[in-house]
Amino acid sequence: MTKLGTPAAPLLGAELERELERLLAVPAFEPSPEFRSQALISDASVYGEAERDYEGWWGRQAAELLDWMAPWHTALDQSDAPSYRWFVGGRLNASYNCLDRHVLAGHGDRVAYHWHGQAGEERAVTYGELLGEVQGLAAALRARGIGPGDVVGIYMPMVPEVAVAMLACARIGAPHNLVFLGSSPQTLHQQLSFSEAVALITVDGAIQREGTFRAVKQEIDPVLAELPSLHTVIVRPHRPAPAPMRTDRDLWWKDAVAAGGGECPPEPLDAEHPLYLLYTSGSTGKPKVVVHSTGGYLTGVHWTSKYVFDLKPQSDVFWCTADAGWVTGHSYSVYGPLMNGVSSLMYEGAPDQPHRGIWWELVERYRVSILYAAPTTIRSFMSWGAELPAAYDLSSLRLLGTVGEPINPKAWLWYRTVIGGGRCPIVDTWWQTETGAILVAPLPGVSATKPGAAGRPLPGILPEVFDDDGDPVLEEQGALVLRRPWPSMLRTLYKEDDRYRQTYFGRFDDRSYFGRFSEPAYYVGDVARVDADGHFWIEGRVDDVITVGSERLPSARVESAVVAHPKVAEAGVIGLPDRQWGQVVCAFVTLIGDTRGSTRLEQEIRDVVRERLGEAAVPRRIVWAVDLAKTRSGKIMRRLLRNMAYGLDPGDVTTLRDPRVIDDLERSFAAGADSVS
Ligand code: WT7
Repeated sequence: MTKLGTPAAPLLGAELERELERLLAVPAFEPSPEFRSQALISDASVYGEAERDYEGWWGRQAAELLDWMAPWHTALDQSDAPSYRWFVGGRLNASYNCLDRHVLAGHGDRVAYHWHGQAGEERAVTYGELLGEVQGLAAALRARGIGPGDVVGIYMPMVPEVAVAMLACARIGAPHNLVFLGSSPQTLHQQLSFSEAVALITVDGAIQREGTFRAVKQEIDPVLAELPSLHTVIVRPHRPAPAPMRTDRDLWWKDAVAAGGGECPPEPLDAEHPLYLLYTSGSTGKPKVVVHSTGGYLTGVHWTSKYVFDLKPQSDVFWCTADAGWVTGHSYSVYGPLMNGVSSLMYEGAPDQPHRGIWWELVERYRVSILYAAPTTIRSFMSWGAELPAAYDLSSLRLLGTVGEPINPKAWLWYRTVIGGGRCPIVDTWWQTETGAILVAPLPGVSATKPGAAGRPLPGILPEVFDDDGDPVLEEQGALVLRRPWPSMLRTLYKEDDRYRQTYFGRFDDRSYFGRFSEPAYYVGDVARVDADGHFWIEGRVDDVITVGSERLPSARVESAVVAHPKVAEAGVIGLPDRQWGQVVCAFVTLIGDTRGSTRLEQEIRDVVRERLGEAAVPRRIVWAVDLAKTRSGKIMRRLLRNMAYGLDPGDVTTLRDPRVIDDLERSFAAGADSVS
């Protein structure tokens, strides 16, 4: 036993492998007494309270957590289901809840963001400064005639001004529509034209994640010219670049602020007023534009950031590593931490720039206490080796989170052991762009956690797993549904309300309404399983299931088995058509370090999969890849792998992080085409 307070020497090499092997046999981890004793929630009674009357319970949370300008009279109105309305009659403002109230309470000097730039620059922005900036920009927008309901596009890197831009829009009731800066000008055009944006807030230049320079404003000018509704473009100097300005439309940030006059009281907005529009990542099908509300969204986001991350505004430094361009960034890089009044770290760069230890250098430097990251990044760190984090002092960390896809048990244990030093609980948080906030996750001071499972639903949330006929099943794979509305749920799909009803409430429509609460069956689109302890195991998207004979194998589960081989860094798994079995498994595999593929390694991987999942899951084809086709949010684009394997056009690749991988993958796939066993 190590003495309390003395950090154990980091485990490396064979010793680490042995420890991870040992931990793989541990079914569940309880919160430590140390963590539990200081946690905001340390007993399970909250679940029962919410269960007894979820509407009333949410009402109490909304009243307690948010500042309202006018009180609401009805917590939930279901009369027009599935168009749910929460906190009916209430008025509030998101920017007031994120900024003014903290400043009024005397916390204006607290750091809102520690910013670390790609070139190593540092900047700290306090709540007071942020409020000043937001007022200035909000007044600027107002001076351009922009008001409640006008859509404003935002196309910016990870700088505190992206939060300023979002909150300035929220202050005047203009729904924002962020477009991830890595998206192409065509994507920007497509999104802003669909949302009929009247203004855009952007930068002159930026450095891409891969380190290449972009003259952003100049590059997007041609597509902006084709947006008839766009009358204002505000440009923030970021990385010096030529930025041709059209005098009737374009303004530098400081000139816009000067023209606005600086003062801008927050607009009292209806609880149901749309706070923002956001595209879903679209790894399958045509993109959808999700509409989020103000009162319900803020309630869900405030509650979950406070209690899932156990936020202590006086002492924590929270680092949600997601770009503001994704929903994770909206909820947990901007609105959640700011509503809680906590200090966050914002980092502009990529995890391997300027070096592969940068995250750990930042954790040490800013004394980060809570880290929230995606499994894909954790797997990259794993493949880069435990020596890198071991070189830094990570003792400030006390809680770790993951989001975005199922995490392989091995990656979970690596995260816990190597990054968390075995002392930090892990919260695996399941949610979607559509859900607005986390819905299934542990409460870190209460819940036991199982590596690879998202755990139990949060208080007030009622997920179930349905079979094909819409009957609930236990300990069996099926379709994940949500049986109750929740405050932060999407309100509709922008301009496509029928599609909203059809996509989310059409699948099990005969089950949609029953009983006193007319409980819906919101169709998630994920395959999941509930175990005997009520823990949810999310297996992946419905479209990512491979059917071999009568066995239905979620890609993510087979991928976990493939990466269990110590030489494998990452795997993307798809089904190939097969006359005998219907489908067989094909695995695209990247290897650790400079390991090279061989028939022997193929055999070993097959053995590992056979041992874990049985014969049906054994990959008939293994393709050695240099890199997998990943979206910018880190998801493997299995559709692209599938289309390629089927000899089809790759389809829409605008969300792909690095389009060059397509050629490499095609070459690797073709190279091994004769060796199908
Ligand atoms: C889909 C939603 C939620 C923010 C980022 C992604 C998958 C998300 C988990 C998790 C297993 C997860 C689901 C979900 N997913 N979190 N903890 N465990 N799967 O948002 O792009 O809207 O994707 O991501 O398949 O439906 P999104």
